[in-house]
Amino acid sequence: MAIESINAYRDEIVHQDIKNLKDLEEFRLKWLSKKGILAELFSEMKNVPAEERKNYGLEVNSLKQFVEQRFDEFSELLQKSKEVSAKANIDLTLDGTPISIGSSHPLTIIRNQMVDIFASLGFVISEGPEIVDDWHNFTALNMPEDHPARDMQDTFFISQDPVTVMRTHTSSVQVMVMQSQAPPIRTISPGRVFRKDSDATHSPVFHQVEGLFVDEAVSFADLKQTLFYFVQEMFGEGTKTRFRPSYFPFTEPSAEMDILGLRYNPETGKQEETWIEVLGCGMVDPAVLDNCGIDSRKYSGFAFGIGIERMAMVKYNIQDIRLFYENDLRFLEQFVSEV
Ligand code: DAH
Repeated sequence: MAIESINAYRDEIVHQDIKNLKDLEEFRLKWLSKKGILAELFSEMKNVPAEERKNYGLEVNSLKQFVEQRFDEFSELLQKSKEVSAKANIDLTLDGTPISIGSSHPLTIIRNQMVDIFASLGFVISEGPEIVDDWHNFTALNMPEDHPARDMQDTFFISQDPVTVMRTHTSSVQVMVMQSQAPPIRTISPGRVFRKDSDATHSPVFHQVEGLFVDEAVSFADLKQTLFYFVQEMFGEGTKTRFRPSYFPFTEPSAEMDILGLRYNPETGKQEETWIEVLGCGMVDPAVLDNCGIDSRKYSGFAFGIGIERMAMVKYNIQDIRLFYENDLRFLEQFVSEV
């Protein structure tokens, strides 16, 4: 009987689950303490018949060794897991690891500033598709097929459908607005545009904000004052400006606006004060108004086109347009939105 119960004990020990120090102490008390099972088994020895005693003694001793071995194994295991959790221990008094919430892209920052400035003058946003037909991008804007001005804005054509183009300017939105709305019109169209152009200051994909104002008796003075106000807001009060005569097929007269600012001169390695071109503008050509269904005898208007990359390059003094698209965090993290 005694031997069978020893084997049953062995079985029990094998299935014993020890998860923590409390379990381990219970295990020790149950088996190894003075009042534990092993002590009891040893004291039982005297009651075992003499001829079985030797065998019984061997069995109890081997059970004792087994219990001690299990005890050592468990305490070692618990010790190890204690060390591991001590290492992973979280000190709640320490500062947390900062979570970067990111920042707006510089082009988004500039675009938002531009939109805000024009919104404060009552301009509303109009958006249009990035893929348009040839008529909206060129012909309606006084650039019929074979017009040499088309060369200034070479774009990506779809070979199987040559009348469909990726818009070269957001002026195509101005056409859509004039076709669908009656004056007074006061709108800006921010958006992505495409040209077959690529170097340090030109990218095949870039962004513009186009503006359009159409009403009765709109004059060049309105155009000048609007853009002068914009530049003061964008680059700071007191920024000097000048208008230079220029040519765009869709405006007459046309002008380019420069601001006096600092520009890095690679030859001298210095920042030098110089006139920097920031935008194109002009009075909407009456033929364009008529093309879009607006009576040019009654209405006049002005329009302008501003490159968002160009604005950002001038404002932040950036030499290479490609930096905007490379997604290098060392570059991007330098810009913080003011809004
Ligand atoms: N569409 C012109 C361009 O991309 C920019 C421009 C110039 C737009 C004069 C205008 C404007 O509306 O009046 O080069």
